[in-house]
Amino acid sequence: AYEKLWLAASILLILLLIGSVTYGAVGPGVAMVSDTEPAIDAGGLDEDERFSEPRVEQVGENEYEAYVVAYQFGFEPDPIVVPENSRVTFYVTSRDVIHGFEVAGTNANTMVVPGEVSEITVETDEPQEYGLICNEYCGAGHHVMEGKVNVV
Ligand code: CUA
Repeated sequence: AYEKLWLAASILLILLLIGSVTYGAVGPGVAMVSDTEPAIDAGGLDEDERFSEPRVEQVGENEYEAYVVAYQFGFEPDPIVVPENSRVTFYVTSRDVIHGFEVAGTNANTMVVPGEVSEITVETDEPQEYGLICNEYCGAGHHVMEGKVNVV
C-alpha cells in the first residue's frame, strides 16, 4: 500500500513542477508567444508604411498589431495603448542603434536591430500599465530610455 502512496505522491510532485514551470512562462498578464522577423524595406523607415507612422491597428476581433519604433532615447508611440483580453503582435524596429524592448515584469523581451523587425506576440488580460524598458546599452541616454504599454 505504501508503494502506491509513494507513486501517487511522486506523480503529484511532477505535475506540480510542470504546473509551476508553465505558470512561470505565462507570467503576470502578458505572455510571449513568438519571436521572428521580416526586414525593413530598402527605402528606410520613413518609406516603410509599417513604420512611417508608428501605431496600434486592429486586425481581428481581439487581435491587434503594434508598429513600434525605438530610437535614442525612447519608443514611438508612447504610450502604446492595447485592449485587455486580446492578442497583440508587436513589430519593433530601430531608427538608429541596437535597443532592447522589454515589457517590465513580463517575459516579453526582444532585441531591436536597425533594418530588422523583431516580432513578439503577447496575450493581454486585465487593464494595467506596464513599463517599457530598453535593456541594450544604446548610448548616453540608455538609462533614461523608457516607454509605457497601457492595457486598457
Ligand atoms: Cu535604447 Cu538602451
